Amino acid sequence: MPNSEAAASRKANDATKIGPKSVKANFNSIYNQPDPRAYFRELYGLDYIIPELARPVFASIVTELEHLRGRPLRVLDIGCSYGINAALLQYPVDLDRLAKRYANLPESEIGPAQLAMLDRSYFRSWPRHEIEIIGLDASEPAVTYARTTGVLQGGIVGDFECNPLPPDAQDVLSGIDLVISTGAIGYVTEKTIARVLSAIGEPKPWVASFVLRMFPYDPIAAALHQAGLATEKLPGTTFVQRRFESEDECRQVTSRLTALGIDPTGKESEGLLHADFYLSRPDHEAAGSSLTDIVSIELGTRRSFGRRYISRPGEPIRLVR
Ligand SMILES: C[S@@+](CC[C@H](N)C(=O)[O-])C[C@H]1O[C@@H](n2cnc3c(N)ncnc32)[C@H](O)[C@@H]1O
Repeated sequence: MPNSEAAASRKANDATKIGPKSVKANFNSIYNQPDPRAYFRELYGLDYIIPELARPVFASIVTELEHLRGRPLRVLDIGCSYGINAALLQYPVDLDRLAKRYANLPESEIGPAQLAMLDRSYFRSWPRHEIEIIGLDASEPAVTYARTTGVLQGGIVGDFECNPLPPDAQDVLSGIDLVISTGAIGYVTEKTIARVLSAIGEPKPWVASFVLRMFPYDPIAAALHQAGLATEKLPGTTFVQRRFESEDECRQVTSRLTALGIDPTGKESEGLLHADFYLSRPDHEAAGSSLTDIVSIELGTRRSFGRRYISRPGEPIRLVR
């Protein structure tokens, strides 16, 4: 190998060894507060938007899987934090509305326990999609908060990168149909995913992950393959996670991407972290439809419309409501 190629290869290897915490900004302190206000202040302040962009994708997958399995689903949210994905999947609220709500409930006037009770009533006042959501996170305060408000119906606390799941996890995880995550891969690797998959057992779940482009998904796809799941990446689309927190983070992330052979032009080069979307399914369930049949990014089509003309191939034009 010529010297320049050897140097490039060494650089890429070094880049893939850098842990997420040393490349991305460190948010550990806001993950471990007794309520989500600091989380929203800090991350929403950086235009963290991935749960909102993930929501229609998860909703399409939930619809498909409910149809296939013929019952309300059990979902596991890995890196669930304060249960934001769970709230967005169950209730007709959006991230913007939640962020504004917490900004208007200052710590100086309302303590965490009182806020949890207010949130409990708040979420209960909305119509709810029938689904059971279990959260898994290293942050005990975040999972406890989301359990108290009722957005999570179950919770598992711990860092399972190095430790086994707790003895009762098998009961909590049995029958999980769908594993979701936003903003968690990187902190969580194939080690946690493999432990979770083995605890879930049969029937195998689907795994739907939004993953920053700086974190190669191959090791997780390999662990999922071992567990009998085939992985597809949504082609042609990326999802903004948030803007860079600092010039240093911008520099570190773009150089890591370049070392991995990923061109940041037009995406991270514009100051925004981008995520890819991956769906893993058991072969027999993947055979009937491709990922792009289930998830299509067509903005506006989910609105309710007046009477419109439908012209499907091989059928006469119909006027439908
Ligand atoms: C960027 S937040 C994402 C939270 C949520 N999914 C969202 O998008 O709003 C990352 C979450 O991963 C959690 N986390 C970090 N390391 C973890 C680990 N080893 N196992 C489980 N969760 C972890 C943090 O506590 C935090 O709640």
